[in-house]
Amino acid sequence: MTVTDTIERPAHVPEEHFIDYDIYSPLVEGQDFHTSWKTLQDSGLPDVVWTPRNGGHWMVLRGHLVQRVLSDYEHFSNHTVLVPKDTAGEAYRLLPLSLDPPAHAPFRILLSGGLSPRAVSKVEATIRELTVSLIEQLKPRGQCDFTADFAALLPIKIFMQIVDLPDSDTPTLKHLADQFTRPDGSLTYPEVVQRFRGYLAPLIEMRRGGDGEDMLSRMINGQVDGRPLTDEEATNLCIQVLVGGLDTVVNFLAFVMLFMAENETARADLRAHPDKLPLAINELARRFPLVTVGRELRHDLLFEGVTLKKGEMIMAPTILHGLDEQHNPVPLNVDFERENVQHSTFGAGSHSCPGAHLARTETRILLEEWLLRIPDFRVAPGQEVSFTGGIVGSVNNLPLVWESD
Ligand code: HEM
Repeated sequence: MTVTDTIERPAHVPEEHFIDYDIYSPLVEGQDFHTSWKTLQDSGLPDVVWTPRNGGHWMVLRGHLVQRVLSDYEHFSNHTVLVPKDTAGEAYRLLPLSLDPPAHAPFRILLSGGLSPRAVSKVEATIRELTVSLIEQLKPRGQCDFTADFAALLPIKIFMQIVDLPDSDTPTLKHLADQFTRPDGSLTYPEVVQRFRGYLAPLIEMRRGGDGEDMLSRMINGQVDGRPLTDEEATNLCIQVLVGGLDTVVNFLAFVMLFMAENETARADLRAHPDKLPLAINELARRFPLVTVGRELRHDLLFEGVTLKKGEMIMAPTILHGLDEQHNPVPLNVDFERENVQHSTFGAGSHSCPGAHLARTETRILLEEWLLRIPDFRVAPGQEVSFTGGIVGSVNNLPLVWESD
């Protein structure tokens, strides 16, 4: 990610609120992704800070402020959600994420057809089938890189089913989606958007006016304020669903499996009590949040003792809500019996994640089927697990081993 050259403090930023912090490189030597962010939260800074990195932006460090920034659209606009504002922010103006209420609602409704609990229950058998088949392929090997061999494959295979696209297009779409959240430099942001458009344009044309029941057809043939979607709107909606649902699930599954690999008691507990899984997954979502997004200031605003200026960016790392002891006592502990679990892992307010139910379902089915077939597994001895910061925190590799028959 781009880092600004200047580390000057603007006049309206008080000295004690000024830090030099790159949200795309949060890792502290010797610490994992979450404890690195926790170190920032615990370092005695004010609750709102300003960093010159990535174009210069504000950042909140406490759970209630993460929730407020993400949901208070009267002050904090979704017009831009990423930094640097002029590059990543500009390129990521997708639908419905970049719209504020009331314009947001009619586009958001178009997503519910494919992602509601009812819609997800219809594809649950397919999710299970794909999950079991991937696990059965891995099991005799006694080892895998969970990230590459499982987590990176499952969500995109499921997505391809939901939108009714051929499996053979998977590598193309996966590569493009990755360029948004973890660019490897092969394409600029505008080029990524251009390629997505090139891929989607003939599909949209083909499915428009048809009676397809897949999510893509339903979105494309939906109405906004009594009129059909334009091609551009349809494309932007499709890209958002694709990008929103891939990297997030891949990495959430990897964080969960890293935890399970290191915790025999948790494995035994969930094997013996699969009925605990829905609550356990909520606790895992609290403990392993991974998204950092932000908002653009609509007006000048006096906020927690500092003046934020119209047009500035304020970032709200969702990681700092679930891990905040002001909301969840002893936050680094995973406790499946924890009461009043609080987090913003799936966002807050009108933009909160419409794919949360699908993500939770994928995680539940993974744990059910994996623990049944590979009850005990651990991180391969002597091998390092590495992490990368970013819009979506990631587990680069997760080498697991187990006894094979
Ligand atoms: C563990 C997995 C996931 C996590 C942690 C996650 C997290 C989030 C967060 C934090 C937001 C709010 C962004 C904001 O307010 O600026 C969001 C929005 C969104 N997510 Fe997810 N997500 C996940 C899975 C999915 C899946 C599976 C899909 C779809 C297949 C999806 C599609 C979307 C879309 C379309 C939005 C924008 C909603 C709107 O603007 O109204 N996400 N997600």
